[in-house]
Amino acid sequence: MSQLLITGGAGFIGSHVCLSLLEGGNNLVVIDDFSNSSHQSLQRVCELSSVKDERRLKVFQGDIRNPKDLQNAFDAIDSAFDAVVHFAGLKAVGESCKSPLRYWDVNVNGTRCLLEVMKNNDCRTIVFSSSATLYGYPDQVPTPESADIRPVNPYGHTKAAVEQLLADMASSEPGWRIACLRYFNPVGAHPSGLIGEDPNGTPNNLFPYISQVAVGRLKELEVFGCDWPTIDGSAVRDYIHVMDLAEGHCEAIDFLNRGKPQLITFNLGTGNGYSVVQVIDAFEKVTGIEIPYRMGLRRIGDVACSVADPSLVAERLGWKTKRSLSDMCRDSWAWQKANPYGYCHH
Ligand code: NAD
Ligand code: WQD
Repeated sequence: MSQLLITGGAGFIGSHVCLSLLEGGNNLVVIDDFSNSSHQSLQRVCELSSVKDERRLKVFQGDIRNPKDLQNAFDAIDSAFDAVVHFAGLKAVGESCKSPLRYWDVNVNGTRCLLEVMKNNDCRTIVFSSSATLYGYPDQVPTPESADIRPVNPYGHTKAAVEQLLADMASSEPGWRIACLRYFNPVGAHPSGLIGEDPNGTPNNLFPYISQVAVGRLKELEVFGCDWPTIDGSAVRDYIHVMDLAEGHCEAIDFLNRGKPQLITFNLGTGNGYSVVQVIDAFEKVTGIEIPYRMGLRRIGDVACSVADPSLVAERLGWKTKRSLSDMCRDSWAWQKANPYGYCHH
């Protein structure tokens, strides 16, 4: 049992990881400014995990750029945190091109602030939400962790900067335990349909878009590009079920706390790629709902193919994904169907 601080724990990935960590017997303190999430997500996490004791999940509304807000969260428990799991940040690629200052402030300065408060409180263990976006246009697919870091948008630049900052912390003094987890494409939801992804406005990402077409909120899906050098011309991605991702975090925390102080970097993906058209087919098959779609132009900044080489994490943690593309479609749909308008019922 560990005491953990979860930044951004109310968000899509954070809420699912909170559930897995509570089920693993850990006590959690969440700090979130709710700029991209609802208070309801963590209430539902409590319901799902049947947490009766409020002390097992404490929630603070605060901004990671504000040291006072962070210190409040650190003061919530008597001892030091065993680890911080750091999800808080901004993640929309398109928006990052329009507002780079905001992205550098929240993602980089926010993390700098968090590390300073951690250091002041003698906590030197952190799991960081990194991204496959770091690989830009990769030379090698499936892509191993050793591939070049050359992101192609401001969001990716901020993730690369944070990984560099974490490496600098690890070399500055002994004792830091750091895991950079590079997620590929997290999708799906908890199978209960009680928690899931709830984007603001029209979704940018494929799974929320398809789900909103299926539920009747959007008319049709546009497939971005049908002339990519892939199996059917649409782009290929490594989609990973958010519950697999959540379990990967639990393994990474255990691994860090068991071993010697070190910095580890892992891809979290399945190693399998599916095209947009294959995803549409799988979704239609699982749900029995037809998804109207039309072929459109390539989206600026997209790559043909992004797939993880997940062998390092399998070797070091003995962890690999268990859930299939059908599971991802089934669970995304369970969430969307039960919550057509996400956490707020319009
Ligand atoms: P999300 O937006 O659902 O969750 C992020 C949470 O952080 C939200 O609850 C938001 O309110 C909170 N937050 C934002 N700014 C904050 C601040 N200044 N102070 C405190 N809280 C703040 O996003 P997500 O999909 O759950 O992603 C979590 C992390 O994983 C992010 O760092 C993201 O960059 C990274 N990531 C996501 C994906 C993906 O496709 N979803 C892929 C790779 C990496
Ligand atoms: C998947 C595929 C689109 C919407 C993004 C970020 C990445 C990481 C994960 C954070 C692509 C196609 C999409 C639509 C479509 N996030 N598509 N029609 O772009 O692979 O990755 O999320 O770190 O950094 O860039 O995910 O879900 O947007 O797209 O055809 O309406 O679906 O072109 O091939 P992406 P996505």
